[in-house]
Amino acid sequence: MDATDEARILTSTTTGEDAVLDDNLRPQRLADYVGQKQIKENLQVFLDAAKKRQQPLDHVLLHGAPGLGKTTLAHILAKEVGVNIRITSGPAIERPGDLAAILSNLEKGDMLFIDEIHRLNRTIEEVLYPAMEDFQLDIVIGKGPSARTVRLDLNHFTLIGATTRLSLISSPLRDRFGVSYRLDFYDDDELIHIITRSAKILDAQIEPKAAVTIASRSRKTPRVANRLLKRVRDFAEVKGNGVITEAIAERALQSLDIDPLGLDHVDRKILRFIIEKFQGGPVGLNTIAAAVSEEQETIEDIYEPFLLQLGFLSRTPRGRTATPAAYQHLGFPVMHQNTENQKLGL
Ligand SMILES: Nc1ncnc2c1ncn2[C@@H]1O[C@H](COP(=O)(O)OP(=O)(O)OP(=O)(O)O)[C@@H](O)[C@H]1O
Ligand SMILES: [Mg+2]
Repeated sequence: MDATDEARILTSTTTGEDAVLDDNLRPQRLADYVGQKQIKENLQVFLDAAKKRQQPLDHVLLHGAPGLGKTTLAHILAKEVGVNIRITSGPAIERPGDLAAILSNLEKGDMLFIDEIHRLNRTIEEVLYPAMEDFQLDIVIGKGPSARTVRLDLNHFTLIGATTRLSLISSPLRDRFGVSYRLDFYDDDELIHIITRSAKILDAQIEPKAAVTIASRSRKTPRVANRLLKRVRDFAEVKGNGVITEAIAERALQSLDIDPLGLDHVDRKILRFIIEKFQGGPVGLNTIAAAVSEEQETIEDIYEPFLLQLGFLSRTPRGRTATPAAYQHLGFPVMHQNTENQKLGL
C-alpha cells in the first residue's frame, strides 16, 4: 500500500488491513449475505438442484465492481455445498502447467475460485476449455514433431470465476459458464444492515443514526462501509467514549474529507477537471488519468462506476462528460457546460 492508497480511504479495492477485516466480517452462509436478492434466490435453487442430483454445481461467473461481495459469495457457495475451495487468480497462474497442476489436484465436487479471471492469458485459458466442458485435460508431452497430446480425466469440479471487467473475458470462456451474475451496488438499507452486523462482530456500539450516516457515504459498497465503520470507531474511541454516535460519525467523515454523497478528493478532482478544463467534456480517459495521477484502469474500475451510478459522469464515444448533477453537487453553475453537451442533452 503506498501513500496514495492510504490517503484514499474510499478505495474499494483491498488493502493489507482489509484482508484481515474482510475475513472477519465475511458472512459465512447465504442467509447472512445481505442484498443481491435475485442472485441469492437463483443460487439457492441451483444449490438445491445440485444437491438433489448429487452433482457439482454448474460453473459460475461473478462480475461487478470491487468490494461488492464476489469473493464472499464464492466462499459461501463452497460452504453451502460442503466442499473444499481452492483459491487462485488470473495473474498468479503464469504457465499452462500451473493451471494443469491445480486442476488435476481437485477432488470430486471441489470448487476452484479464479479471481481476476480476465487476467488469464489466452494459452492458459485454452487449458480451461476442455476442463470446464468435459472435465478433461489435454497435456502436450515432448516438443517438436515428436510432441503428442495426452488426455487426462479430471474429477468433476465447479469453477467460480470473478472479475471486475466482464468485457475483457473472451466469449469462448464466458460461454462455458453455466451461470453468470452481475453484482449490483447496495442500497442504503442493505448497507445499514451490513454496518450494524459488522459493528456487532467488531464489538463496537453504534447508534442507528450513525449507521445511516456511514451507509450514505459508503459508495454503495460493503467493503467501503466496513472500512469507514472501522475508521469511525477509531474516532469514537479516541475522541469520544467509544460509542459511535451520529455526531462522531459526521465528524470522522468530515475529517476524512468524505462529502455527504460519499465522494472523496479524487472523485471531486476528476469532476472538477472535466468541468473546469474542458467545460464539462467530453474528455478522454487517458487525459483524466494523467490529470489525477491514476492509472486508467483504476479510474475505470474504481472511480468511474460509482460516478456513473450517481449520474455525475456519462460515457460518450468521444470521452467522459460531467452531467448537470455533477455541476450542482460541486457548486458550479450549470450554464458553464459547453454547447456540445447541451446538444447531447447532457
Ligand atoms: N452481501 C454482503 N453482505 C455482507 N457483507 C458483505 C457483502 N458483500 C460484501 N461484504 C463485505 O465486504 C467485504 C468485501 O467483499 P468481497 O471481498 O467479497 O468483494 P469482492 O467483490 O470480491 O471485491 P474485489 O473485486 O476487490 O475482489 C467482505 O469482507 C464482506 O465483509
Ligand atoms: Mg474479491
